[in-house]
Amino acid sequence: MNAFPDKFLWGASTAGHQIEGGNVNSDWWAREQSTPGMELSLDACDSYHRFDEDIALLAEAGLDSYRFSFEWSRIEPIPGHFSRAALDHYRRVVDACLARGVTPVVTLQHFTTPQWFAEAGGWTSPDASDRFVRYVAETTRILEGVEWVATMNEPNMQAAIMTAMQRVSAAADGEWTSPTVEREQSGEDRQRAARNMLAYADPEIGRMFAGIHHAAREVLRERTDAKVGWTVAAGALTAAPGGEEKLREVRYGKEDVFWEGSRGDDWVGVQAYSSQEVDEHGPVPHPPHPENTLVGTAYRPDSLGMAVRHAAEVTGGVPILVTENGIATGDDPQRIRYTREALAGLRAAMDDGVDVRGYLHWSLLDNFEWGHWEPTFGLVAVDRETFARDPKPSLAWLGDVARRNGLA
Ligand code: BGC
Repeated sequence: MNAFPDKFLWGASTAGHQIEGGNVNSDWWAREQSTPGMELSLDACDSYHRFDEDIALLAEAGLDSYRFSFEWSRIEPIPGHFSRAALDHYRRVVDACLARGVTPVVTLQHFTTPQWFAEAGGWTSPDASDRFVRYVAETTRILEGVEWVATMNEPNMQAAIMTAMQRVSAAADGEWTSPTVEREQSGEDRQRAARNMLAYADPEIGRMFAGIHHAAREVLRERTDAKVGWTVAAGALTAAPGGEEKLREVRYGKEDVFWEGSRGDDWVGVQAYSSQEVDEHGPVPHPPHPENTLVGTAYRPDSLGMAVRHAAEVTGGVPILVTENGIATGDDPQRIRYTREALAGLRAAMDDGVDVRGYLHWSLLDNFEWGHWEPTFGLVAVDRETFARDPKPSLAWLGDVARRNGLA
């Protein structure tokens, strides 16, 4: 069956720092300037001012949901001091969605934190949970009518970034190689990326994040009617011959402890792009290939079906929203082909009983890919000088899928 269930959400996702521009109080703003090899976010896509145009593009194409994030560093630029203007701004974004019949899916923290939070020890500080919960409590003032709320985005990738940054600070390896970007696939880079994946496979980090998430969930449940969850980066990892035991070990720290953290949530966000093998030594560096994406990952649209099946198994059936799936490519027909195959795999998993409530593509816009501008994930191109939006054929294609509520 190609049809999807009634009320299935069809949308696209973004994140504040990647699109808004001028996010001067965040840890990433500072980091971009101090890290060799990173490009600057600067004005990004200027979506802080152009959000209404972005939501209109999405809605007119036929999509009915929009995932975006609140920027903690704008809402709480100084510890304990909350900006009414920033809160009002994000309420206007919510209202712009509702006015167009678009379901907002709000992420309260997408990779960035206030710089003051980072300087005070970030997530590993003993006060991290209280600080985050204080911020989350404040956001509940603007969440009326928002049905889907994620406390944080990809805590497992945030753990990886923490590790990568520690490495950069220790100057052990020199330049920034983002865990989200396996670019410049020299053998040495790939080995380093693979080692890095192991470095953050510490289940204690996962449990720490889960504790903070649960504390935030409690406040959201007390004060709002939202369905609460978080989103997890799904690796769709597989075992190479002889790698079965190592796969279980690596996947537990890197992923499963986070899926476990979502038990008891109202939903969980699955974010899948590619797949990787694990052998007896750990994640196997992925070789260069003509079909590789602009971030160096393998072309693996089947990763989405694999990811939702695995998430359903480990969470014990928590309802799933696909909150990210997409491909970094300059070739829009390849994006359409990838997405069609990914959706076919998703549909097959649903036929087998996996409870999926929506699909939100990454990303609505060509945006700032965490230190890089080159990888383009967008359904809409953005001129970096004029900020003019230029929808790609993939936007109309996905809008048609949404209108039909199924693949042709
Ligand atoms: C993140 C996004 C990122 C995307 C593509 C996810 O890890 O949530 O912020 O742009 O993957 O790399």
